[in-house]
Amino acid sequence: MRIFLDTANIEQIKQAAKLGVVSGVTTNPSLVSQAGATDYEATIKEICSIISGPISTEVVVEGVEAMVEQARQISTWAPNVVVKIPATAEGLEVTSILAKEKIKVNFTLCFSVNQALLGARAGAAYISPFVGRLDDIGQDGMQLVRDIVDVFQKYPEIRTEVIAASIRHPQHCVEAAKAGAHIATVPYPVLMQMIRHPLTDTGISRFLADWRSVSRR
Ligand code: E4P
Repeated sequence: MRIFLDTANIEQIKQAAKLGVVSGVTTNPSLVSQAGATDYEATIKEICSIISGPISTEVVVEGVEAMVEQARQISTWAPNVVVKIPATAEGLEVTSILAKEKIKVNFTLCFSVNQALLGARAGAAYISPFVGRLDDIGQDGMQLVRDIVDVFQKYPEIRTEVIAASIRHPQHCVEAAKAGAHIATVPYPVLMQMIRHPLTDTGISRFLADWRSVSRR
């Protein structure tokens, strides 16, 4: 499973890039707003220059024509930009048009297997089931990821990759990897939680203390 960062915060992206494990970034309008970005295009272009993998950015207009037009515009911002299109009937139409033009789509706000299947058939490069938001309403968000992966595996002609999104904690990443998700997109604090373990910290302290006593001999 590959790791994407789910943020529009440039500092977090720069910090995470140094770790050498981030293969892409996903953003959405809320994340862009939280990052305090004033120039949407400039922010996305900067992210695309920091991380060479796919950078997903959302279309923020409604109506098929307007969405297609904005998506075409966004696709010129950088070679690695991916356009996020919501999982609606209009979104399907838009995805079909963009896929024929070889513009990569991340079919987002996916909450059912049927939405995922239709998005894949429309030619989306990625499908983003939102795990945490389903957990929030008392459903099992990770089961959706498992079900989508299972269905896609039954039809090898489907090349759409599954991005486990709306990840809230490290255990979500473990479960997404076990489910066979191609990618998990994780907030920066979750990425840092993934690498931390108290036994690693105490192990380092003990090794260093013992080493100091050896070097005093
Ligand atoms: C994914 O592409 C979305 O940006 C994100 O995972 C949404 O997560 P949230 O439910 O924490 O807002």
